[in-house]
Amino acid sequence: MKSMLTATPKTQLVKKEIDHLASTALTAEELMQGMVKKLNERMLKYNWVGFYMLESAPGQPAVLVLGPFVGAMTPHTRIPLNQGICGAAASTGKTQVVHDVNSDPRYLACSIETKSEIVVPVFVRGRVVGELDIDSHFPAAFGPEDQELVEYSARVLGKHLEKFRQ
Ligand code: SME
Repeated sequence: MKSMLTATPKTQLVKKEIDHLASTALTAEELMQGMVKKLNERMLKYNWVGFYMLESAPGQPAVLVLGPFVGAMTPHTRIPLNQGICGAAASTGKTQVVHDVNSDPRYLACSIETKSEIVVPVFVRGRVVGELDIDSHFPAAFGPEDQELVEYSARVLGKHLEKFRQ
């Protein structure tokens, strides 16, 4: 008999839990806080999980500002769009998966323990408004299933934001 544990991939269960968070969160901030906690607790290699949101003031270049996160405090609380893996994800609108951060010259170090990273843009009506950034202490921690889960989570937040943003 097939084990119940292998019948449903864990990422499918976590997606359902993310859906539940989205259906009960009263604000986007509450949803973001719930998501980073959930992804960190349920996915054992997701050691630092956080959002960066785009801020732009008139006459100033847009910058990514640290939002809700779980993990050690990072020195990178504001990241320009031309810096880091975070800047690359926001400026291209494309998911960045880095299997070995130490061999990527764009990488801005947050912790010496970090070995791999994924950054997924969050869109509202086709425009990047922020991103979900996850660091792992393990090399190549983010395979296709992880990418799908993180992109799913970013889409759930984007849809939630669409309800409230002009
Ligand atoms: N590593 C990121 C910076 C953010 S910290 O990982 C939290 C980057 O290269 O953009």
